[in-house]
Amino acid sequence: MQGGATIVMAVMVISSYAVSIFMSRAMGMKGKAVSIDQLHEIGNVPYLHEHYVSRGKVEEIIQGWLTQAPADGVHPRVFIEGMAGIGKTALAMFAVKSTVGHFWSGTFWLQAKSSSARTVLSYFEELHKRMSDLFVPSLSVSQKGQATWRLDEFVVSINGMLERRTCLVVLDGVQSPEVVEVMLQLKCTLLITTQVRSMLSNQTQFKHADVAPMDIDNSHKLFLKLVPNGVQQEGVEKVLESCGGHPLALSIVGTLFQDAMTPARVGKEADVGHLVTKLQDPRCRLQMHIKSETILHIPDVEKHSTVMRCFDFSLDALNKHEREMYVLLAALPPRSQATTHQLGAIWHLQDDQALCLAKKLERYCFLQKYVPSDDPNVTSNQWGMHVLQHDYIKVLREAMLHNVQQ
Ligand SMILES: Nc1ncnc2c1ncn2[C@@H]1O[C@H](COP(=O)(O)OP(=O)(O)OP(=O)(O)O)[C@@H](O)[C@H]1O
Ligand SMILES: [Mg+2]
Repeated sequence: MQGGATIVMAVMVISSYAVSIFMSRAMGMKGKAVSIDQLHEIGNVPYLHEHYVSRGKVEEIIQGWLTQAPADGVHPRVFIEGMAGIGKTALAMFAVKSTVGHFWSGTFWLQAKSSSARTVLSYFEELHKRMSDLFVPSLSVSQKGQATWRLDEFVVSINGMLERRTCLVVLDGVQSPEVVEVMLQLKCTLLITTQVRSMLSNQTQFKHADVAPMDIDNSHKLFLKLVPNGVQQEGVEKVLESCGGHPLALSIVGTLFQDAMTPARVGKEADVGHLVTKLQDPRCRLQMHIKSETILHIPDVEKHSTVMRCFDFSLDALNKHEREMYVLLAALPPRSQATTHQLGAIWHLQDDQALCLAKKLERYCFLQKYVPSDDPNVTSNQWGMHVLQHDYIKVLREAMLHNVQQ
């Protein structure tokens, strides 16, 4: 009798399992939902910073775009754009966290490096390996690696795994469009962060989110998360303003204050006072080394160790002539805006040539375009620079003069 009950129980369990598989298949779903551990270990998704401060509306906008249903078979493609250190990667981490429930099959984070350091094929090899590990763990190591495969073979195999699954692929820190162009063949949602504005401008299906600097309230919030009693210190308010809402600069400054205010140093006001004085010098501010790298995204530790370093990477995108013209922007007073004609006067260029150069600098986030305001006297585009770029130009000018003198 007992044996009969066991058999009945077993049949019930097996049939309920079969029904759940049938239901999920019927609903177009394949496999189990990804666990949080798998997301980080296999998907390579980084943990969101503990000191993360909300970027407000843009977070909701990105979440809305990512979770839209594919239109005509084309999955959402979302770009997060903005200058170095402005918080694109952090925002992408937040977007992944807030859409985990939607991308129930998995999210895969690929870290881009400069184009010479990583081939397009290597992104697909990595993605194929990660997806196989998650979706078909029974495959042998050599089947997951497929060292001899061509790009199109990887695309077919990956798209096969993506069928009836809902996945997100993140490509963080892309500098060249070639990788993105190939990624577009993937049948899943893509989130891309880049310092290059409108990388593939001819594609209308892309959504672009521009990351703006933080306002002063959020700058305070970020600083307070790192240095809870720091804002009461004298001179701190001015230091925070001088960061222009740049989260990396604020984070570096925060760790410097943490260090100056360690319990061993409490009472030595000179330490904090000395730091405040140092940070008032723009060149110093830009080159101060972070005291605790633990608050940075690990692959970017080297390039984010000072604010100066992170701008250097965008500078590589300019040729010698463009760099020289960028340095001439020192003629613009900080926080001012100039028309294309005024830029032309600084550069000794005709308006159309000045416009071309301004657009190139805007593309690499060295200049910001301001569309005409409600003021009827302002009819043409205005251009301006982030306050930290003025500091950067000062350092570049000195370096150039030094080279000339040698
Ligand atoms: N919203 C935020 N709240 C708190 N800290 C932030 C935020 N955004 C960025 N940061 C801090 O600034 C650092 C730089 O940000 P992030 O790596 O996102 O810049 P990025 O725009 O991706 O730069 P890059 O173009 O060089 O890759 C982070 O490591 C983090 O410490
Ligand atoms: Mg980044």
